[in-house]
Amino acid sequence: MKNIIVLGATGSIGTSALDVIARLGPDYRVLGMSANRNAELFLKQIHFFKPRFAVALDPAAYETLKGQMPQGTRLLPPEMESLTFLSSLPSANLVINGLVGAAGFQPLIAAIKAGKTIALANKEPMVMAGQTVMQECKRWNATIIPVDSEPSAIFQCMEETDANNYDKANDSISRVFLTASGGPFARRKQALSTVTPEEALNHPRWKMGKKITIDSATLMNKGFEAIEIMNLFSLPEEKVQIVIHPQSLIHSAVEYVDGAILAEMSEPDMRIPIQYAITYPKRMPSPVKPLNLFQAQKLEFFEPDFDRFPCLELALAAQAKGSIFPAVLSATDEVAVDAFLKRQIKFTDIPKLIYSVLKETYGRAGRVTLNQAAEADAWAREKALANLAEKKYKKAVL
Ligand SMILES: NC(=O)c1ccc[n+]([C@@H]2O[C@H](COP(=O)([O-])OP(=O)(O)OC[C@H]3O[C@@H](n4cnc5c(N)ncnc54)[C@H](OP(=O)(O)O)[C@@H]3O)[C@@H](O)[C@H]2O)c1
Repeated sequence: MKNIIVLGATGSIGTSALDVIARLGPDYRVLGMSANRNAELFLKQIHFFKPRFAVALDPAAYETLKGQMPQGTRLLPPEMESLTFLSSLPSANLVINGLVGAAGFQPLIAAIKAGKTIALANKEPMVMAGQTVMQECKRWNATIIPVDSEPSAIFQCMEETDANNYDKANDSISRVFLTASGGPFARRKQALSTVTPEEALNHPRWKMGKKITIDSATLMNKGFEAIEIMNLFSLPEEKVQIVIHPQSLIHSAVEYVDGAILAEMSEPDMRIPIQYAITYPKRMPSPVKPLNLFQAQKLEFFEPDFDRFPCLELALAAQAKGSIFPAVLSATDEVAVDAFLKRQIKFTDIPKLIYSVLKETYGRAGRVTLNQAAEADAWAREKALANLAEKKYKKAVL
């Protein structure tokens, strides 16, 4: 029996994860789940899965849910400690982290310190302090299994797949091809400055939460994934090749020193990597329709356009600088995406706002500690909001 915690149950990853768990049968049970604001959906999920513990972080959602729990379910107070409590429950065998942004950082660390296996979709903590996160995993005997489709594809293409020792496979890998659909604007003729939130939220291949959908449109998401896989699999930047692959059928590939390339292919459906992270190392039947290679017809590959999508360059530069720069990148991106969705800035101002804060960042030498990453996150948010209010980002030249 696998006792599972689902953090971010009401989100895109969370609802897919619950769908997978419901189909896997009685050996997989939801022990605890969390949401933020979506009380209506969360209540339905709670009554269906009847977990022992539920957390709605938003106080208004908590008030709505109070008194409506089924027998055997305890609604915990709306505070971060409830999420860290869930992540470290002694009887939990697997923690699925489907939280978005830095909100997932503390629950991830709590799960690591409790020596858990974590199915990780929430890539931002791996951007903020990924190398330190991996070091902590070794220290506490915790395991991270990637859920994001590209890191999962790389994980699945590793010859010596061993979630407890990613370094092992590294010597025989010559390159990793990190694929990207290119987002909705890969072939757009009109200026990107006129992009509206509605257009940016209309992703051609994947139906996802708002933040990652905007990050996919700016290609920041690919920059985040590049950082995530460098940290997760101890890959140097030279071994990571970003490839625009509009069909999204190859979810990434690994090239070995003898020239052989192993690629993972499937219909673009997150339930495959989510299920693999849940059942690993077993493979189980899934509801996703198999890929029809005859209908797929063509597979295209292009180099990314760094000039049109400066977020990619910003991400790689922040990772190369190390220290607190990736944490600052991640935090300012959250502020910039939110401001764009609220129509406070233009699509093309997103990288400018991020750059305006990175420019004012002074990192110390050496690997960032978890505390430094959290402090940098808080500092960068404040700075980004100030630069937004003062319109400082307008002067940033990329
Ligand atoms: N969606 C995908 O296909 C996909 C693929 C690869 C990786 N990822 C990564 O997976 C993560 C989740 O993405 P998503 O698309 O599932 O996001 P999403 O649809 O926006 O869902 C986010 C979840 O987190 C909850 N949440 C939001 N803010 C919170 C906060 N401050 N504190 C606690 N809980 C909070 C939300 O609750 P409410 O809805 O109740 O407010 C929701 O359950 C992201 O890091 C993303 O980059 C997603």
